[in-house]
Amino acid sequence: MADPLVILVTGASSGIGRATADLLQARGHRVYGTSRRPAAHDAPWSLVQLDVTDDASVAACIAAILSAEGRIDAVVNNAGLVMAGAVEDTSIDEARRTFETNVLGAIRVARAVLPAMRARGRGTIVNMGSLAGKVGMPFQGLYSASKFALEGLTEALRQEVAGQGITVSLVAPGDTATPVVDNRVRVAASADPASPYASDFTRVLAMYEKDERAGAPPAGVAALVADIVEGRKTGPRYTVGPLAQRVMVAARNIVPGAVFQWGMSLYFGLKR
Ligand SMILES: NC(=O)c1ccc[n+]([C@@H]2O[C@H](COP(=O)([O-])OP(=O)(O)OC[C@H]3O[C@@H](n4cnc5c(N)ncnc54)[C@H](OP(=O)(O)O)[C@@H]3O)[C@@H](O)[C@H]2O)c1
Repeated sequence: MADPLVILVTGASSGIGRATADLLQARGHRVYGTSRRPAAHDAPWSLVQLDVTDDASVAACIAAILSAEGRIDAVVNNAGLVMAGAVEDTSIDEARRTFETNVLGAIRVARAVLPAMRARGRGTIVNMGSLAGKVGMPFQGLYSASKFALEGLTEALRQEVAGQGITVSLVAPGDTATPVVDNRVRVAASADPASPYASDFTRVLAMYEKDERAGAPPAGVAALVADIVEGRKTGPRYTVGPLAQRVMVAARNIVPGAVFQWGMSLYFGLKR
């Protein structure tokens, strides 16, 4: 194996982040994985505290790794929050919380680590998108919006730092069997039976949960991230996960918009 890399994986306490950190550690790298509550978890790699919504927490985490290792070769911006609820039922605070974690969190970590990567003329940043960031998902509109935003951000940042020897890529998984089913946050107003979206929300969310429980194991996402971090894959974006979902996303770019939306509404049993 080539020299071990120093790799930071945010949100490594469970699911995709945990699988990614475990795989990278097994491949001989020096892995730092994060949790907001590190004392609540055990890991065979260095488990460090990080809340991506907190400027000081991000600065302290990156500074501690740089001080211990002298470098960070790769960052996997994996920490994420799934907010469920109709767009209209989502308060501005709930919308802000989604973007604080999924978008501004990735920006905070990138801004903190880029100067050290630039100084060495090398580095890799992998942002964890989602197929829900390529197709707007009903009753997960804020989550979709945040992952669409992450895709645009990745494309822009990639062009800005390519000349500095830094590669930025986006990985967009489909349904993956992780604790996300239990960690998903429902907007407060979704509990109100008087919401005009109550029955559609309940039905569609049950469909999401069923698909996620039957989703691909996180090992597939972890293997793709390892390919990027170790330089075997250097493209701007990758999808991974159930074939049917990846075909569905590809169809969005081919099928007329109204036809695609008709198919989505039919699938979810939504009036149109
Ligand atoms: N599972 C899927 O079907 C799927 C599909 C596409 C994309 N994704 C994406 O994959 C990523 C991981 O999701 P997962 O399915 O593995 O979910 P998960 O098991 O719920 O893991 C989420 C991770 O994010 C961390 N996290 C949440 N808020 C954070 C914050 N403010 N600061 C730092 N860390 C935070 C959590 O750590 P602590 O709670 O310990 O801090 C946890 O380790 C997310 O970006 C998600 O959007 C998942």
